[in-house]
Amino acid sequence: MIALTLAEVAAAVDGRLVAADPAVTVTGTVEFDSRKVAPGALFVAFPGEKVDGHDYAAGAMESGAVAVLGTREVPGVPMVLVDDALTAMGRLARAVVDRLPGLTVVGLTGSSGKTTTKDLIGQLTVRLGTTVAPPGSFNNELGHPYTALQAGPDTRYLVLEKGSRGVGHVRYLCEIVPPRISVVLNVGTSHIGEFGSQETIALAKGELVEALPSDGLAVLNADDPRVDAMASRTSARVVRYGEAPDADVRAEDVTLDDRGRASYTLVTPEGSAPVRLGLTGRHQVSNTLAAAAVARELGMPLAELATALGELGLVSTRRMDVFDRPDGVTVIDDSYNANPASMSAALKALATLGRGRRTVAVLGYMAELGPFERDGHAEVGQLAAELGVDRLLVVGEPAAPIHEGATAVANWGGESVLLTDQAAAVEVLRGELRPGDVVLVKGSRYRTWEVADALRADATSENGATA
Ligand SMILES: Nc1ncnc2c1ncn2[C@@H]1O[C@H](COP(=O)(O)OP(=O)(O)OP(=O)(O)O)[C@@H](O)[C@H]1O
Ligand SMILES: [Mg+2]
Repeated sequence: MIALTLAEVAAAVDGRLVAADPAVTVTGTVEFDSRKVAPGALFVAFPGEKVDGHDYAAGAMESGAVAVLGTREVPGVPMVLVDDALTAMGRLARAVVDRLPGLTVVGLTGSSGKTTTKDLIGQLTVRLGTTVAPPGSFNNELGHPYTALQAGPDTRYLVLEKGSRGVGHVRYLCEIVPPRISVVLNVGTSHIGEFGSQETIALAKGELVEALPSDGLAVLNADDPRVDAMASRTSARVVRYGEAPDADVRAEDVTLDDRGRASYTLVTPEGSAPVRLGLTGRHQVSNTLAAAAVARELGMPLAELATALGELGLVSTRRMDVFDRPDGVTVIDDSYNANPASMSAALKALATLGRGRRTVAVLGYMAELGPFERDGHAEVGQLAAELGVDRLLVVGEPAAPIHEGATAVANWGGESVLLTDQAAAVEVLRGELRPGDVVLVKGSRYRTWEVADALRADATSENGATA
């Protein structure tokens, strides 16, 4: 963060100083986990249901915090008192980015691939200047300002993921940190249970381009009609990326190698260049084009861009993380999250990597599909069978329609089993896996993590995700 006096902090968050010297300066970070507090920090105390941050206020001061931002007084602790700590964090983030005129904010949203593409953009912008784009999602009312508050006077690029579970969410996140470049990746069906329809999802994601100033830039996926249509919702300039022949930044002649890594010809208004990705999955063509469109806009020359795209790696864990075990089994750990679109992308990657090998898919429940829950799962099972997956392990009763969807496919040569929990899946895998097998592990968050971790033992990651 930039250095701010407590008087400035109080003014930014509409707070009141209690037992605090207004001239004292916050020189460190803003933290809501007291274990992360270092000298000069501002500690934010949230009144939680189980844990109340105010109980940690004194400890944070002992660790070197200069004050505590919270909603009630703590005796002996200098406080910035506010009505709502979350709103205050948002306001403070806004005050900080407003004081950084040299900062370019890149915001991105979409149903699948926000974190992946945020990490890609961050790996490109860091070649152009100091970048804040930390691993992980940080895409909600808390993570968003927390990330933005890491920007300081030296930061040139702040790359932020904007999550959305309803109309108005992205708009609010854009009020906290207004983007100059807005990237919309896709409109799928994740969280459709809360949204109701894909049209509403498109309405909500499009708030990201509505928030742009007229001298900003909208980077839109030309291959997704609902995203392409968002061009009419902004006064900013629009750059379209994709494989559509009329896209401004596009991929031509896409091929996949036997590890599921794509090569393509990157075509831009400045010319074209060959790109060879080290990332796994056909869907990375789209993600890397989005990142390329941003880097190009920020001034990266085409030749450097093509090279940089080839050097992109994984940053956040459990997303298309491919590794080979010493026993010759290849694992695709895509266990971070799952929705029908990302299941489809992952199953296709499994099919590509598994050509000539035995393929195993360990698939768990996809959360938040609402009324589409049954069909969404059944279609994933059907696709797995149609792609010729040899062995399907469906984990947990709620995911049962995956099993049913697969077994309903006539002439499928593979075999599916519905298992009660992750431990049962690990047991089956330990008994069945042979050298040469390729295993995909995927589900919504913790529902398949243990399986991936069990398979990870004794293995090294190919793409090297770190967090
Ligand atoms: N363009 C894409 N199309 C489909 N699936 C994708 C795409 N990009 C990434 N994925 C897959 O989607 C899953 C989630 O990826 P990622 O974490 O990047 O998305 P996210 O949008 O940040 O998700 P969340 O909403 O949980 O934060 C992973 O399995 C990843 O491999
Ligand atoms: Mg994310």
